[in-house]
Amino acid sequence: MRRKLAAGNWKMNGSLAALSQLNQIARETASLDVETLICPPSLYVSEALTRVSGNQLNIGVQDCHFETSGAHTGDISASMIADLGASHVILGHSERRADHDESSEDVREKARTALAAGLTAIVCVGESEKQRLAKNTLDIIGGQLAISVPDASKAANMVIAYEPVWAIGTGRTATTAEIDEVHDFIRTRLKDRFGEEGANMTVLYGGSVKPTNAAEIFATNNVDGALVGGASLRAQDFVPIVRALAEA
Ligand code: PGA
Repeated sequence: MRRKLAAGNWKMNGSLAALSQLNQIARETASLDVETLICPPSLYVSEALTRVSGNQLNIGVQDCHFETSGAHTGDISASMIADLGASHVILGHSERRADHDESSEDVREKARTALAAGLTAIVCVGESEKQRLAKNTLDIIGGQLAISVPDASKAANMVIAYEPVWAIGTGRTATTAEIDEVHDFIRTRLKDRFGEEGANMTVLYGGSVKPTNAAEIFATNNVDGALVGGASLRAQDFVPIVRALAEA
C-alpha cells in the first residue's frame, strides 16, 4: 500500500503569528487517513514542532547540507533536523536548483545524509517550459531521477515530487494527461530500479495545486498526494486539499 501524503512547502513565507495556521490544520485534518506535512522556514521549525506536538501533522524542512557538521556558515544539517524531531526534508526543489545552482549530484548527496539521519527525503524533479516544448520532458525527469535519488532509498524514506517548473506559483497546472504520462514514467523507473520498494514509493504532484483542482489531480493514476506551495499557507486552502486526498 502506498502512503498518501499532503505536503505543504511554505518557502520563504510565514511568521511566528502565521504558525497558528498549523494548529488549525492539525485540528481539522486529525480524523483524516492521510499523512500531512508542513515545511516552514527552518527558523520556525522548532516552534512549529512545539505547536503540533501530539498531533498527526508532521513538520519538515526545505533543504539541508550534505555534510553532517562543519564550517558551512548559514547551513543546517540533516542530523540537526532529526535532532529537533522534524521528519522530512524537501530536496532539489526547482527554486533551489535555480537560486543555488544545485545539481542532481548535490541533491543525491543531501538525500544520502538525510536518509542516514533517519529523515524521509522528498526529492523534487521537473522540466522547464523550454524543455517541455522541446519534447525533452521524460529525458529530463529520467536523468534527474537516476542521479538525485540515492541507492539506499526505500518506500519508507523516499518520496518523489514531480513539479513542472512552469506550473510552480503560476496558477497553471499540468493537464491530467501530462501528469499521468510523467507519473507513469516515474513509477516505471522506480520499479525498474528499486523493485517492490519502488512500486510502493509515494509520488507527489506539485505546481499550483489548489482546493479547486486537487480532486481531479488526485484521481490521476500514480498520484499519491501533492506538494503544495501557495495554498499551504492558510488552513482554509490546505485543509480542503488534504480532504480531497483522503477521499481520492
Ligand atoms: P505552488 O508551489 O503550489 O505555489 O505552485 C509548489 C511548490 O513549489 O512546491
